[in-house]
Amino acid sequence: MKVGYFQFKPEYCNPEKNISIIEKNLSGIDIDLIVLPELANSGYLFSRRDDLFRSSENISGGIFINALKRISSKNKFHIVSGICERSENKFYNTSVLICPEGKVITYRKLHLFDTEKKWFEAGNMPISAIEINGKKFGKVRIGMMICFDWIFPETMRTLALKGAQIICHPSNLVMPYCQRAMTTRALENHVFTITANRTGMETAGGKTLTFTGQSVIVSPKGKYLQKASKNRKECAIVKINPKEALDKKINPVNDLFKDRRKKFYFNE
Ligand code: ACM
Repeated sequence: MKVGYFQFKPEYCNPEKNISIIEKNLSGIDIDLIVLPELANSGYLFSRRDDLFRSSENISGGIFINALKRISSKNKFHIVSGICERSENKFYNTSVLICPEGKVITYRKLHLFDTEKKWFEAGNMPISAIEINGKKFGKVRIGMMICFDWIFPETMRTLALKGAQIICHPSNLVMPYCQRAMTTRALENHVFTITANRTGMETAGGKTLTFTGQSVIVSPKGKYLQKASKNRKECAIVKINPKEALDKKINPVNDLFKDRRKKFYFNE
């Protein structure tokens, strides 16, 4: 199975421009699953509610979702992308999985970071693994989480326990830890991870954020399979065998899931 990321700098509050960047760079690539950054339609650093209105959309059919559906169906690959979602005048920091036949599956970010709490509602949907089926790769279970979700190990653990083999991780990272930590997250769960981070800077309300790029793909053994630059637009594709993520043994004796001592763990 061929999987990858597209790292780029989404233009603030300009979904049309972001669609054109994505369409131009993804058309014709030979891949089965591609992951895009968090809030890929809208940009990140909001300082006015009006900007959220202008760049957000309903998952049932806005310009960004319709463009992703068109690109997915035309090129016959699956897309995972961050999207600024509007639903009944509330906003969610959301990730969508788009299948070539038009199916859309949604995950809303559970753990909001910093000023996101001012603009977005926290996610209100269960963490789940989604089965996709492709002629070239068979049945594979996909998990989605968004950026800061990584620092709560329960997020990826839950996805892995539910059977996810590939964790798709749209991101707008600003702290320097995640790209290193993903080797541990992948190893402790024996899953593939694809962190698609953004590049560039945004300034609003007297605050400037620099996004750290360095998108990473990690194997179930915790090895980097791909790592992007800090600040360039980059599309990477790697060939993986998702079945490797079904084996939770770390040696003939130990199994990451079966060896858990659940009754001794803290149960809130
Ligand atoms: C983040 O969650 N965008 C840092």
